[in-house]
Amino acid sequence: MSTTAAEQAAMRRALELAATPGVPLGPNPRVGCVLLADDGSTVAEGFHRGAGTPHAEADALATAGDRARGTTAVVTLEPCNHTGRTAPCAQALVAAGVRRVVFAQSDPNPAAAGGADTLRAAGIEVEAGVLVDDARTLNRVWTFAVEHGRPFVTWKFATTLDGRSAAADGTSRWVSSLAARRDTHRLRALCDVMLVGTNTVAVDDPLLTVRDDHDQPLATQPLRVVMGERDLDPGRRIFNADAESLHLRTRDPKEALTQLYARDRQHVFLEGGPTLAAAFVQAGLVDEIVVYVAPMILGAGRSAVADLGITTIADALRPRITDITVLAGDPDGNVRFTLAPGED
Ligand SMILES: NC(=O)c1ccc[n+]([C@@H]2O[C@H](COP(=O)([O-])OP(=O)(O)OC[C@H]3O[C@@H](n4cnc5c(N)ncnc54)[C@H](OP(=O)(O)O)[C@@H]3O)[C@@H](O)[C@H]2O)c1
Repeated sequence: MSTTAAEQAAMRRALELAATPGVPLGPNPRVGCVLLADDGSTVAEGFHRGAGTPHAEADALATAGDRARGTTAVVTLEPCNHTGRTAPCAQALVAAGVRRVVFAQSDPNPAAAGGADTLRAAGIEVEAGVLVDDARTLNRVWTFAVEHGRPFVTWKFATTLDGRSAAADGTSRWVSSLAARRDTHRLRALCDVMLVGTNTVAVDDPLLTVRDDHDQPLATQPLRVVMGERDLDPGRRIFNADAESLHLRTRDPKEALTQLYARDRQHVFLEGGPTLAAAFVQAGLVDEIVVYVAPMILGAGRSAVADLGITTIADALRPRITDITVLAGDPDGNVRFTLAPGED
């Protein structure tokens, strides 16, 4: 069995609908749906607007009403098979009299999977895997988190040309340029956890909120998390009322990620310091690296990452570059590298 040109076009449209701006990031995936008549014309469109709202299929079926009967549903994700906050979509499609279902990505969530089987058992034609790579890219972090049972980890740091994050006297404001710091806030806003070690909170007292170019906090803030066993002064800024915060009293990166996933968190932005970052690297729990390199040389001072136990050049970690960007309009000429771990 294969798909028609109209179904392919409808899938591209469903992907566009899924990516509608303003849909909250996580914990649910972005999903779009188009209902097609036999002549390839569109009967209705729908998309998911975030946890607790109707799924994309239900949204499209509600718009179509009786006109859903006999249509082909083109959906970016396998229709779900479980009752969560909303009823199972596979059964809703059966009840609406949909004739055929074409979907992109199979549902990696064992609790929700099985929709295709339910549809087939009800006599509905099912075609899977159409534009699946685009669908996985659309929900890159959600897909990773569900498949691995833990959040995706982006480790970000700023460094001088000679790999230092602070001068010999401890001063580090600023290694990175204003443009780099603004760019960092843009990336923080894509995550649902900000993570640092206890020493960064003790020494730097960072606020760890996401702010706009006028230094104003955004309406939606990631959870601010500090990790480590020591007690911390409750007066530190991370514990203020600007956003939620959490002290994870563990040194085990895996345990920390398990706890964060249990709280429905899917994307950790790890901002250091060097000790905590090294622990995540050594545990193999860094999935993306973002580095801002400033054209600055210190010659002495703190290394941007702590000792990784590497003593010979053959053992160097060699992450793969996925992007290099010279920050636009930056008088200080900072460059952003984005890298993926080498093993992948
Ligand atoms: N350039 C940058 O991008 C950047 C970013 C952030 C920070 N910094 C700088 O980094 C400095 C702080 O860095 P840091 O390396 O000293 O501190 P850190 O990494 O923030 O925190 C280290 C502490 O975290 C706890 N911890 C939690 N899990 C751990 C593990 N698996 N292994 C080891 N320790 C663990 C330990 O304290 P417990 O005893 O509490 O367990 C440890 O002492 C600051 O001066 C700050 O300015 C730079």
